Amino acid sequence: MLHGRHILLIVSGSVAAFKALMLVRLLRAEGARVRAVLTAGGARFVTRESLAALTGEPVQDDLWAPRGGEEAEIGHIRLARWADAVVVAPASANRLAQMAHGLAHDLAGCILLATCAPVLVAPAMNPAMWAHPATRANIATLAERGLHFIGPEDGPMAEPESGPGRLSEPEAIAYAIRTLLGSGPLSGRHALVTSGPTHEPIDPVRYIANRSSGKQGHAIAAALAALGARVTLVSGPVALPDPPGVVVRRVETARDMLAACEASLPADIAILAAAVADWRVAQEAAQKLKKQPGAAAPTLSMALNPDILATLSRHAQRPRLVIGFAAETEHVVQHAREKLARKGCDWIIANDVSGDVMGGAENAVHLVTADAVEEWPRMLKEDVATRLAARVAEHFA
Ligand code: CTP
Repeated sequence: MLHGRHILLIVSGSVAAFKALMLVRLLRAEGARVRAVLTAGGARFVTRESLAALTGEPVQDDLWAPRGGEEAEIGHIRLARWADAVVVAPASANRLAQMAHGLAHDLAGCILLATCAPVLVAPAMNPAMWAHPATRANIATLAERGLHFIGPEDGPMAEPESGPGRLSEPEAIAYAIRTLLGSGPLSGRHALVTSGPTHEPIDPVRYIANRSSGKQGHAIAAALAALGARVTLVSGPVALPDPPGVVVRRVETARDMLAACEASLPADIAILAAAVADWRVAQEAAQKLKKQPGAAAPTLSMALNPDILATLSRHAQRPRLVIGFAAETEHVVQHAREKLARKGCDWIIANDVSGDVMGGAENAVHLVTADAVEEWPRMLKEDVATRLAARVAEHFA
């Protein structure tokens, strides 16, 4: 619930701005006070009157001429300080570019520079604009600065095309705001989660990978964030949306994943759910390997990858709770126990991957600690994540 919390909502120019009106209703239904700032672009899509009626507050749209009785007193600095959270929804490509460069030519820009509150950004734009290197660079800059993102989603757009660029649904944005402001049992804790496969290059066009979908790791990141943890998710290549309120670092190889994990320390909790390739090709070819007529198939010689779980378990900045996964097809608990000792972690989530676990929706796991084994019933990966996050919270209570 958001009872009594102050949400400052910046509505920028996108056809999806109508969803901001629905978001205001949801937030107010949870007891939040919402003030809206309408940018010049935003005002092309929704009216100040609609936002004022739904927020029950005067709407700000001009840096130089604040409106409304009480509002005449409130400049951008006071508005920035009033907010417990600033939400930019929808955030257009242009607004993201302005934010990345710290431009303060309008009221929204000034507030975004002046605020100390957490900022949640919900982008919305055409898929080509979202994919453009300029937008990618702006997102990376803003994420690096600690801004939180939700979406965009993949799906049909206003124009007859489809792809990533749709504004997240108001319910999802409200959930992300709750998470952001969460005073959950893990608030103040930093959790590092790895997820997905790694890709180990053979040459510029080929790689070795595995069937991991990242579903379990991503669900764990979301579940920890929902309990108030600040979460860094280091993910190999996956086809999943970023979990709300989580900082995502994308990597390809095991060595990149280790570097990103170490760069994310210190952390209180590390949960390593990625299916890291144990081996890489010893000598990555600089040019595409060509088949020579009549020649035999090439032989790839492999080199051992670093073990991220073992490295973090023995790290100078070791997280207080380190949890690994074990993918087994037989003697699940026995192998998990050996792995726990060998890698030096605190808990192992052992899953039997002999069925359809990899890429599937469900997981059947054992939680193995130094002195106990719990068998959990088969359940959705999201439910495994929720239960694991609750166990982590219990551990820190
Ligand atoms: N892991 C890792 N770095 C690696 C390999 C694995 O961090 N280079 C982590 C995984 O994220 C997982 C655990 O270690 O948490 C799995 O251990 P691993 O030794 O890979 O065992 P399994 O994949 O379960 O299988 P096997 O024992 O057959 O190697």
